[in-house]
Amino acid sequence: MTNETKSQTAELRLDGRTIALPVLEDNAGCRALDIRGLWKEAQVYTYDPGFGCTVSCQSAISHVDGEKGRLLYRGYPVEVLTEHCTFVEVAYLLIHGALPTHAQAERFSALLNRHSMIHEDMRTFFRRYPERAHPMAVLSAMVVSLSSFYPEVEQADEDIDIAATRLLSKLRTIAAFSYKKSIGEPIIQPSYKLSYCANFLNMMFNSPVEDYTVDPVLVRAMNQLLILHADHGQNCSTSTVRMVGSSGANLYASVCAGICALWGPLHGGANQEVIEMLSGIQREGGSVDQAIAQAKDKTNPRRLMGFGHRIYKTFDPRAAIVKKICREIMTRVGAKDPLLDIAMELEAKALADPYFAERKLYPNVDFYTGIAYRAMGFPTDMFTVLFALGRLPGWIAQWQELKRDPHQRIGRPQQLYTGPAHSTFRPIDQRA
Ligand code: ACO
Repeated sequence: MTNETKSQTAELRLDGRTIALPVLEDNAGCRALDIRGLWKEAQVYTYDPGFGCTVSCQSAISHVDGEKGRLLYRGYPVEVLTEHCTFVEVAYLLIHGALPTHAQAERFSALLNRHSMIHEDMRTFFRRYPERAHPMAVLSAMVVSLSSFYPEVEQADEDIDIAATRLLSKLRTIAAFSYKKSIGEPIIQPSYKLSYCANFLNMMFNSPVEDYTVDPVLVRAMNQLLILHADHGQNCSTSTVRMVGSSGANLYASVCAGICALWGPLHGGANQEVIEMLSGIQREGGSVDQAIAQAKDKTNPRRLMGFGHRIYKTFDPRAAIVKKICREIMTRVGAKDPLLDIAMELEAKALADPYFAERKLYPNVDFYTGIAYRAMGFPTDMFTVLFALGRLPGWIAQWQELKRDPHQRIGRPQQLYTGPAHSTFRPIDQRA
């Protein structure tokens, strides 16, 4: 919980009155004016489109230091976790608040295995989607459908291990099934013999006509990539999960909404957009300068995808790790991707450009992830699904934290009304 700083109170002068606002301070020294009583006391709201200056909750799950380029999950630097942990351990850490012991990890993994299959009736849903359906559309629809197959999650006292592992495990299976559906291949069932990430790669790439051996180097890379996405403060999709959860909606409905928010090109959809941007540059003969000029041109809506971040005003620490993982994957699969060369040239030129320097625009996590996923064999439209898979433990942990928060209320921002003050009604046959 935050502390109310003893010495500091902010003062707001309005209508000849002085209103005292308590100043809160969090564990990282971040201060916030407590305006909860402002409307009652002074009948004034605060205006903050995009919530750039608004703290919406107290959270102990992750901390992003945008100035220093640091990301912590429950106090652990993300670099340490990607180096030493599996994604399942990190999921446990986010959801339970501590890294698992051997016994806890075994129970969690056993539950992940037990809940990995999709209800037979749900499997038939896959047949009805059009062949070219975007996997994010399928994923979100299937996740909200889970609530009708497993309604017991609506009971607040259901063992969170079961609800969390069911969702973690099934989301992975749904993701792989939606890919198989999109390429017209039979689905591959999860195997109890494989770990979480190995299972996913097997369900994605195994096929009845070709043997597939899960490569431990790619399994490690998959674990690391998912860990890097696991949580990130009150970003757009996480805030959406909380907003929907604040109405009392169940975990599946809240996560479904988070998946939809993540899909947007300014958020998780940027990883797909980056590859499309780099491929466009390649098609046009490697014109990196033109892409930079377009991104700087305020009359052109194009931006440099994978660049910039609301919080990071220095290098996104996740981007630095993904760049390294990219090289490791490429060495392993023996592939060379011309898009990696274009990305590195683009990064170097953008970082040297005063436009990006002045605005503190650096590569974000999405800049290199697409190249890593391509090298592993994932098609472009699966990239945001992989982001969703990684972000899921964070969404679950945040939803859970919201449910336990004594300060929690239904999310309901205000607006400044700009419509007419009075409209005169005319029957339909008298309207111009
Ligand atoms: N290319 C060109 N200019 C940019 C970019 C970019 N990628 N990002 C920001 N800017 C410029 C803006 O035009 C603005 O310039 P101005 O001050 O001259 O008007 C300034 O930098 C500040 O940008 P805002 O849009 O105010 O920043 P905001 O915090 O609202 O947006 C965002 C952050 C959405 C990430 C933005 O940087 C962007 O669109 N990036 C590209 C999309 C992307 O990579 N998204 C993934 C983000 S990471 C994640 O969600 C996982």
